Amino acid sequence: MSKVFEPNREFSKNARIKNMCEFKEIGHEVDDDYEAYWDKLAKEKIDWFEPYNKVLDESDAPFYKWFIDGKLNVTHQCIGRHLKTRKNKAAIIWEGEDGSRRIITYLLLYYRVNRLANLLKNKFGIKKGDRVVLYMPMIPEAAFAMLACAKIGAIHSVVFGGFSAEALRDRIIDARAKLVITADGAYRRGTPYLLKPIVDTALESGCECCENVLVVKRNFEDIDMVEGRDHIYNDLIKHESQHCEAEVMDSEDPLFLLYTSGSTGKPKGVQHSSAGYILWAQYTMENVFDVKENDTFWCTADVGWITGHTYIVYGPLAMGATTIMYEGVPLYPDAGRWWNMIEELRINQFYTAPTAIRLLHKVGAEQPGKYDLSSLKVLGTVGEPINPDAWMWYYDVIGGGRCSIVDTWWQTETGGHMISPLPGATPIKPGSATFPLPGIKAEIIDEEGNPTPVGEKGLLCITKPWPSMIRTIWGDPERFKKSYFGDCKKDGKPVYFSGDGAMYDEDGYITITGRTDDVINVSGHRLGTAEVENVVAHDENVAEVAIVGKPDDIKGESLFAYIVTKTDIDVDSLKKVVNQLIVKDIGPIAKIDGLLLVPGLPKTRSGKVMRRLLRTIAKGEDITQDISTLEDPSIIIKIEKLFKGE
Ligand code: WT7
Repeated sequence: MSKVFEPNREFSKNARIKNMCEFKEIGHEVDDDYEAYWDKLAKEKIDWFEPYNKVLDESDAPFYKWFIDGKLNVTHQCIGRHLKTRKNKAAIIWEGEDGSRRIITYLLLYYRVNRLANLLKNKFGIKKGDRVVLYMPMIPEAAFAMLACAKIGAIHSVVFGGFSAEALRDRIIDARAKLVITADGAYRRGTPYLLKPIVDTALESGCECCENVLVVKRNFEDIDMVEGRDHIYNDLIKHESQHCEAEVMDSEDPLFLLYTSGSTGKPKGVQHSSAGYILWAQYTMENVFDVKENDTFWCTADVGWITGHTYIVYGPLAMGATTIMYEGVPLYPDAGRWWNMIEELRINQFYTAPTAIRLLHKVGAEQPGKYDLSSLKVLGTVGEPINPDAWMWYYDVIGGGRCSIVDTWWQTETGGHMISPLPGATPIKPGSATFPLPGIKAEIIDEEGNPTPVGEKGLLCITKPWPSMIRTIWGDPERFKKSYFGDCKKDGKPVYFSGDGAMYDEDGYITITGRTDDVINVSGHRLGTAEVENVVAHDENVAEVAIVGKPDDIKGESLFAYIVTKTDIDVDSLKKVVNQLIVKDIGPIAKIDGLLLVPGLPKTRSGKVMRRLLRTIAKGEDITQDISTLEDPSIIIKIEKLFKGE
């Protein structure tokens, strides 16, 4: 049995949820009346323009609707309402990679967002419901742009700056975005890099919907400007008024789209709502991170991922907290950078990914000792399972044995945390995300809804709708139904299936065992193998390809490709060619690490590639499965030998 770590008593005394009794009491309250629980929270937490008249509408399930006919604006929740009490409080503290800082108070944030909102409306004709793509580095203007969209009811779709021109183009077209907001570039590892040329390439074909590009100057490198289409933010913004009426939004009006990978085909535009999403961002900030008025909160994610949306921008601001935004990489100028920032900015809650923890442990184990990390109260992780080694280092060395680690399980689709310890209440076991948050019905079941016995793997489902759930896949409601509500049922009713497997231990603690589908988790980022295979298959040397995840010490998983060639290209050259293609079509995050040339792929008689076997081989494990059902069992024996270099 794994060791249990009790919450720090001193911390618990002032925590919002102080012990497991309180946690269970809330659980009973939720069980007694599910809707009444959310009703109470929504009334208490959201500053409504007009009240809703019904909590939950299930009539068109699985297209659940929350807080029916309520009116609000998320920027009022995140900025406007704080002006009375916090106008001079730092909303965002930004640190550039070169060490420069910008401090944006709530009042200044209000003005910045208003000016940009006015610019979007007046100059570019952006209206409620229009889509705006953001392709931005980690600068405050990324947050201003998200919030400016929200202010006027436009739907933002942030595309991670590491994605290629092709990937950006697909997302602009799918969303039919009218405007792209970008920057000339930014700095990484001390060197300026460019973003704008990637936007130019993306817009070369098929993006007729996109009429304008707004460019924020960050590194002042030379970039080409297309006359009439491209505009410089820094020149235009000063002419706009600091005042802007917030658009009155319905609870269910979409706040943003965020594209994520699925097991098949092209990325899905996950659509989030206004009221349910912002309620959840705030609720989880309060309960999972237990952020207090004078705390400084730092989430190290990029705004291009859901973690950056909910825990850099919307969650901290909805609470009226101070959020940190850092431009650069953790290793610049050395592996002490983050610890140095924690010391200087006196960070109280720190939230990062296991892959970063492993990296910093490996390359700079001695670094944390040089800094004063005593301001830290809560440490968080997200994105992938955390291995016990990394967990213990985080706990002992970074947290000084004082801080709870909240291992938060959630997804782009869930909007915010679903399963996580509560730092003042939950006794934690390394490697377990522990229990669903109060109000969340996360259960491990089989396809028919039967509970999974202790110690056995089952399917991680959420069996009741929750306020911040994905509303649909942009432009493809059928795919939404099929992807999330097509696999599992409970009491005969389709329930949300996460795509993850999980397991209960004897105390009911939940351990996430990883994806059950062909999605790979590289450094906490989701990649659909099908998506990468489609790209690789286009190379003229490639006859057939299968890509699987291979365990990796730092990244968690890396991509391993089995390729049948139709030319006599050698392994090294093929790897180079294939990775060039991947970088062009998707981005560097999808590069393959390993490659094996094989004589064929293991297939069933019906022609389906048996990836399970390929995964087993890539893990370096022996094949124990029955291979007699394969069309040609000798293939897998050959592949196994090739892999072992025999
Ligand atoms: C997938 C979601 C949620 C923000 C970052 C990733 C994996 C997430 C954990 C965790 C084990 C985790 C799951 C999930 N995952 N958190 N604490 N322990 N696995 O968002 O790109 O939507 O990926 O990340 O497999 O399904 P995402």
